Amino acid sequence: MPAPEPGARRSETPRRRGPLAAASRRQFLIGGTVAAVGASGAIGLDYALRQNGESTSAESAGAAEPLNGDRLVDFHGAHQAGIATAAQAHATFIGLDLHPEVDRAGLRRLMRILSDDAARLTRGSAALADSEPELAISPAGLTVTFGFGPGFVARTGRDGPAWLRPLPAFSIDRLQPEWNDGDLLLQVASDDPITVAHAVRMLLKDARSFAGVRWTQQGFRHAHGTVAPGTTMRNLFGQVDGTTNPTPGTDTFDRVVWATDGWLAGGTGIVIRRTAMDLDTWDRLDRGGREQSVGRRLDTGAPLTGAAEHDEPDFTATTAIGFPVIPEFSHMRRARSDNPDEVIFRRAYNYDLPPSGGAVSDSGLIFVAYQADVDAQFVPIQRRLDELDLLNEWTTPIGSAVFAVPPGCAPDGYIGETLLE
Ligand code: HEM
Repeated sequence: MPAPEPGARRSETPRRRGPLAAASRRQFLIGGTVAAVGASGAIGLDYALRQNGESTSAESAGAAEPLNGDRLVDFHGAHQAGIATAAQAHATFIGLDLHPEVDRAGLRRLMRILSDDAARLTRGSAALADSEPELAISPAGLTVTFGFGPGFVARTGRDGPAWLRPLPAFSIDRLQPEWNDGDLLLQVASDDPITVAHAVRMLLKDARSFAGVRWTQQGFRHAHGTVAPGTTMRNLFGQVDGTTNPTPGTDTFDRVVWATDGWLAGGTGIVIRRTAMDLDTWDRLDRGGREQSVGRRLDTGAPLTGAAEHDEPDFTATTAIGFPVIPEFSHMRRARSDNPDEVIFRRAYNYDLPPSGGAVSDSGLIFVAYQADVDAQFVPIQRRLDELDLLNEWTTPIGSAVFAVPPGCAPDGYIGETLLE
């Protein structure tokens, strides 16, 4: 199995096979551009060319497209993969509870084993003692990201960040214990759901003598290839969701997301809020009401005062009869803060389960936010939304969990070493 290209850290490396090894315009574009802007940018460039009706020589020659299944995201690096990584189509989040007898040495063994599994699987290799090695060969951008709950850190005898505890209670919460908390988080994401299922199974098989599953949440976004790379996802209300978000690779992103202190330096905090979305009552709301509830248009995701998705909203604009065009109670207005420290990085997934009890849907959002300091960044936003947010009429938080996500590791290291060594 070829190793990732040198310098491919955090970039997404399409592996090439057969006819694509031959020089082609596409290869020149991608190969030449990867070094400068990263593979995702190159793929965007390639996409733009195709939109202009240009074909590549590889295509003219009938050569196969590079398979998305071959795409690698390096497991190793200063930060864990799966955070700044462009969100893959499928993700499974698993909260585990440690068995009572597992001590610090046991945690070290556990994290060494799981890090080794993740390193192998993300480069398209079978894990040790993999009973279905064929399912490992198409990682499709697989990432495995680990988080430590308060119980995990307590077991090490060391202190965690002050915010590493359950969130304060909010009046909108209707939390169900089966979706809350946990000692260890696995976030497994890939563009291929078979890859996710296999990686999850391998990790859980190796974790089972140390920890048991507390909850599992499976989520999805647009399938790979359905929308252009970089398109903001839609949630199941039909809203464009994720527009105002720090951009990975920028100073703002680094400041918002990466912790700088102690064993968590280079890591971050994750908040997972399972939020039910009542599609059945949402259906009864007219389009104008739906757009007012968030302050953005449904078709383009543009603010109600703008024309394009990324236009800056004008909160001072008023209608002919003097009401704000973007209502004070809209989700966007309430979620936004003037405080540059109150920013989070959202990376949500949809869920859609078989309905029961006469309902026609059981859907929602696995709301996922990364931030360096949960108390300073996430909590004040959630408090404002708790006080007032029209979207609360149709959304209900039913699960809540907070984890510290340790930094990444080098190929000879393991995730959690800064806490466990
Ligand atoms: C099911 C629950 C939720 C839905 C459907 C939802 C949907 C949306 C939508 C459609 C937008 C506008 C487009 C965008 O910028 O992404 C938005 C913005 C935002 N949401 Fe949510 N959201 C939910 C929960 C939350 C929660 C729990 C928080 C944090 C506590 C949150 C924080 C934000 C922030 C910070 C923005 C950007 C506001 C700005 O423009 O500055 N959202 N959300």
